[in-house]
Amino acid sequence: MQKYGELDASYKAAGEEQGIRKLVDEFYQQMETLERGQQIRSMHTESLEVIKDKLSLFLMAWLGGPKVYRQKYGGISIPMAHKHLVVTEQERDDWLYCMQEALKKQDYAEDFKEYLIKQLSVPAERIRQVSRDI
Ligand code: HEM
Repeated sequence: MQKYGELDASYKAAGEEQGIRKLVDEFYQQMETLERGQQIRSMHTESLEVIKDKLSLFLMAWLGGPKVYRQKYGGISIPMAHKHLVVTEQERDDWLYCMQEALKKQDYAEDFKEYLIKQLSVPAERIRQVSRDI
């Protein structure tokens, strides 16, 4: 069996497109519901339809799956795409917390949940580093 991070092993472990879209829906559901999600929710537009599609397609490619994001939305640098936002340790950790809560509700292998949150903390920290100072 392939290790997570090799070829499309992570994409498969995340349940491919359907599983990733489900995770992203739950992530934004958590953001809308949790007290800790309110600040980062307010940074988003009122409708979450487009961002849900973008995050889903981005994660599909990022996890080794089909590169649909690029075809539909073009190239992206994750830190640069967030540069206009104020992301301190607080926003970074709130984002990861909402993701962690969403992961709890997924039917994924436990070691994949741990792997994924660790992997996501890398770009989340990069975003904080390049984000606009307050
Ligand atoms: C560190 C905490 C994070 C915060 C507070 C945050 C917040 C946001 C917000 C508010 C937007 C919408 C921007 C806009 O409408 O102008 C956005 C876009 C996006 N985010 Fe994040 N984000 C974070 C981390 C991440 C991570 C770790 C990833 C991917 C692994 C990610 C992927 C994306 C993508 C693909 C978009 C769409 C970019 C675009 O339209 O060009 N975000 N994020």
